[in-house]
Amino acid sequence: MAKRKLILDLDTGIDDSLAIAYALGAPDVDLIGIIGSYGNVLVEAGGQNSLKILELLGHTDIPVYLGESHSSTSDHFDRMQVSADIHGENGIGQVDLPDPQRSIEKESGVDFLIDAVHKYGKDLTLVPTGPMTNLAAAIKKAPEIATEIGNVTFMGGALTVPGNVTAYAEANINQDAEAANAVLTSPLHSTMVGLDVTLRTLLTKKETQQWRDLGTVAGEKFADIVDYYIQAYVDVNDNLGGCALHDPLAVGVALDPSFVTTIDLNMVVNYNKETYGRTIGDDNRLNEPTNVKVSVMVDKDRYLKTFMEYLTNLFKQN
Ligand code: BDR
Ligand code: CA
Repeated sequence: MAKRKLILDLDTGIDDSLAIAYALGAPDVDLIGIIGSYGNVLVEAGGQNSLKILELLGHTDIPVYLGESHSSTSDHFDRMQVSADIHGENGIGQVDLPDPQRSIEKESGVDFLIDAVHKYGKDLTLVPTGPMTNLAAAIKKAPEIATEIGNVTFMGGALTVPGNVTAYAEANINQDAEAANAVLTSPLHSTMVGLDVTLRTLLTKKETQQWRDLGTVAGEKFADIVDYYIQAYVDVNDNLGGCALHDPLAVGVALDPSFVTTIDLNMVVNYNKETYGRTIGDDNRLNEPTNVKVSVMVDKDRYLKTFMEYLTNLFKQN
């Protein structure tokens, strides 16, 4: 079987780092590139974090590109304090990793995505786990890619639960609601992996201790990085009982949609002031064919088992 071509679009970020590890640990996946986004950190820092995580995991062959540094409706990006609180000032839990031996690619992340869709078409899977700015920019520049790409599974949004930065908005959508709306109302078909399912899919220090016990550098560094994130969840929302596996769940669902139950909808994203960032069914398109599968339930035990199997095997070797 040919390996599936995968691109991650990340604002790396602790759970984005877990998304990289999941993609590298999963069988039959060819991670052909990472696009850097802004969000948890500035775009440049996210790109450097992706390079560092790839090196930690022994994959110096995967190129990292930079996408847009802010939304198209703004001329800059201000990092939210809560991002530093949850992911650490450096985005990876204040853990020191060596400076990367490699550099960011010169080509823009948006052009890399467009070229990859033209090259691989239906064989290409894209998993955005930050703002949708890069995907919206790519569709604007090359509208045909919306129907050429094989699979887009994104982490973002909240349909059946409240947002996590405002009562309405999940963080990734909140960074650029206009971009998210442009993507979800385009002809592109996608699967939404939002807070509805990611807040049910939790990791605890019991699991990170298993990585630490491996006695490898990757096992120990990832345990340190994720323990920071678990502690941040305790500080911010201590009734949850662990940290949410937002971004690696999106990769899991992209590779195996049977982890979740979805409902078919047409979605809009509000970008008026009061409900900015709300992801909701589009009452203007109730009778039209749908283009978004919204995850509403997750088989969290089976997912967690798979997650631990992939990551533990990977950390054992590094
Ligand atoms: C999402 O926001 C970011 O902080 C996380 O990396 C995740 O992608 C959760 O709302
Ligand atoms: Ca993210």
